[in-house]
Amino acid sequence: MPAQNDASPYSKTNPYLARISENRLLNAEGSAKETRHFVVDIEGSGLSYTVGDSLGVFATNRIEEVEELLQVIGATGDELVSPKMLKLEQPITLREAWTSRLALAGPTPMLLKTLITKATAAEEKAKLESLVAPENKDALKPWLEQRHYIDILTEFPSAKLSPQELVDLQRKLMPRLYSIASSPKVSPQGVHLTVAIVRYETLGKERVGVASSFMADRVTVNETPVPVFVSNSHFGLPEDHADKDIIMVGPGTGIAPFRAFVQEREGNSAGGRNWVFFGDQHEATDYLYGDEWKNYVAQGDVHKLDLAWSRDQAEKVYVQDKMRENGAELWSWLQGGAIFYVCGDAKRMAKDVDQALHDIAAEHGGMSAEEAAAYVKQLKKDKRYQRDVY
Ligand SMILES: Cc1cc2nc3c(=O)[nH]c(=O)nc-3n(C[C@H](O)[C@H](O)[C@H](O)COP(=O)(O)OP(=O)(O)OC[C@H]3O[C@@H](n4cnc5c(N)ncnc54)[C@H](O)[C@@H]3O)c2cc1C
Ligand SMILES: NC(=O)c1ccc[n+]([C@@H]2O[C@H](COP(=O)([O-])OP(=O)(O)OC[C@H]3O[C@@H](n4cnc5c(N)ncnc54)[C@H](OP(=O)(O)O)[C@@H]3O)[C@@H](O)[C@H]2O)c1
Repeated sequence: MPAQNDASPYSKTNPYLARISENRLLNAEGSAKETRHFVVDIEGSGLSYTVGDSLGVFATNRIEEVEELLQVIGATGDELVSPKMLKLEQPITLREAWTSRLALAGPTPMLLKTLITKATAAEEKAKLESLVAPENKDALKPWLEQRHYIDILTEFPSAKLSPQELVDLQRKLMPRLYSIASSPKVSPQGVHLTVAIVRYETLGKERVGVASSFMADRVTVNETPVPVFVSNSHFGLPEDHADKDIIMVGPGTGIAPFRAFVQEREGNSAGGRNWVFFGDQHEATDYLYGDEWKNYVAQGDVHKLDLAWSRDQAEKVYVQDKMRENGAELWSWLQGGAIFYVCGDAKRMAKDVDQALHDIAAEHGGMSAEEAAAYVKQLKKDKRYQRDVY
């Protein structure tokens, strides 16, 4: 059942200004990853949550990028603007718009088309026209994806836009969702998150993800206000879960909701078993919450734990390989009524896990491909196959 936040005045449109009380690196030294454990303090907010819910976080952009943008268009930041997208009653300063209300990434073709009308240098106009030409349609998307507003405005200096013209072309800065990694039974006032910090390089520039770097770098623990809301989800445990077996597949940050599920079911005397599939690059550095999982297994709260370390050997080993290895047993859990959960990367992992599930039904259930597809479809319909993928 989704948590009811009727007791709280806070919501997506009126977020609670929480503090982050803990920011801890989960990877060991030498890891290629930066995955952090955050605790968001919601005490006094009246907010409540249920396992399976996500926390919405409104972040701010990097101040350095805002300053660079102001400089490139020759603005002070005090100019008043009313970005079309935001439908404001009162104008706000350009600095506020760029700090907390508008995305500085994700420029659109409309920006380029507008710049064509403004460019005074012939070579800039020609380049802009070529970028949006119908024959270059396929190349435009990756070209835009590699660039933020600052890159494009710097590349076409003769095309001047006023602050208002510019903000009217920008998209809203959207809140980011994070799967909650704690159970309210264990931590009612502290919402735990497991966040992969996005850092990468394009065009020789270091880039960061807005919200993950905000929490990692720009928030001071117990000080900086972080606007948050609880997003209820259809992903979660059914009310009568105690006597049901559950299978949880969550590599990388996909492990977050399953830490919450196991906390919720810890010490369960009704008999429902927990099977966790986790994976990441290296066991020595990327075993997220490794000590907790070892304890859960020792206590009998996790009945089966299968681990896939993708880069500890020459051949990649992924969670779906572990599923296949355990295909007969997985099939018997499903036949016994187990619920199958997947969380994490949508683009690659969740597709491959879905294929593995089909293959296991075909092989161990003696089904044709069509029958396996119908079986998996029915699992979904019965809410026995649930996904939280991103
Ligand atoms: C229901 C749900 C639950 C989620 N739960 C979690 C969770 O528990 N933990 C978690 O970490 N995330 C989770 N996410 C994802 C999270 O919401 C954010 O999308 C993620 O943290 C990135 O946000 P950001 O603001 O840091 O990055 P953004 O500012 O959104 O930047 C990300 C963008 O940067 C670009 N980019 C990233 N890497 C590269 C690269 N190598 N090369 C070129 N471009 C690149 C891509 O355009 C990408 O879309 C969840 C998402 C949903 C919808
Ligand atoms: N750009 C993309 O396509 C993409 C995909 C996934 C995640 N991400 C981003 O990367 C960041 C880190 O994510 P994360 O820490 O949650 O973990 P992750 O990148 O999803 O990796 C977790 C584990 O899953 C493995 N993996 C890779 N492809 C897989 C597949 N097809 N099937 C099963 N497992 C697979 C990874 O192995 P290897 O790394 O050794 O391959 C790693 O061992 C996040 O910001 C996420 O959004 C981006």
